[in-house]
Amino acid sequence: MVSKEFLIEHIDQNEQIVEEIISLLKKFKIFTFQAEMGAGKTTLIHSILKCLKVQHFDGSPTYSIINEYVSPERGKIYHLDLFRLNSIKEAYDIGIEEIFSEKNIIFIEWPEILSSFLKDENVVHVFINVIESKSRKFEIVF
Ligand SMILES: Nc1ncnc2c1ncn2[C@@H]1O[C@H](COP(=O)(O)OP(=O)(O)OP(=O)(O)O)[C@@H](O)[C@H]1O
Ligand SMILES: [Mg+2]
Repeated sequence: MVSKEFLIEHIDQNEQIVEEIISLLKKFKIFTFQAEMGAGKTTLIHSILKCLKVQHFDGSPTYSIINEYVSPERGKIYHLDLFRLNSIKEAYDIGIEEIFSEKNIIFIEWPEILSSFLKDENVVHVFINVIESKSRKFEIVF
């Protein structure tokens, strides 16, 4: 197991986390993002998507569990936010098996409900800790 830590003083420095995750895309396709509410999971995922030149970026504030994007370089990318799911059954109901059976990149916020499902997969876990209003500690484990 490898664990890498990054201490960030300001959101502008998130670029180094983005680069690290982009380089891990050579070996991994599933990434979880675990942190308290408002820590910066969505913000980081959007920065990664931007770096992958995702078109039709969904800037809509409307909450959705499954966001599907297309990167001209990497193909289909899923961004899942499972916060509102209450059971693994609900995950199956929204078509999680199909999403994982395809060879697409998957970024997952609030992945806990899938823990039994993810344990057999090759996954990178990104943990975010809020230090201060703009300061974060990121830990990338794979
Ligand atoms: N270094 C940082 N990285 C990411 N976000 C930061 C950082 N510093 C400050 N922020 C701010 O923290 C907030 C993070 O919000 P975001 O929606 O990304 O959180 P989240 O973890 O996805 O929350 P939720 O669990 O509700 O989905 C944003 O307002 C962002 O500007
Ligand atoms: Mg979020």
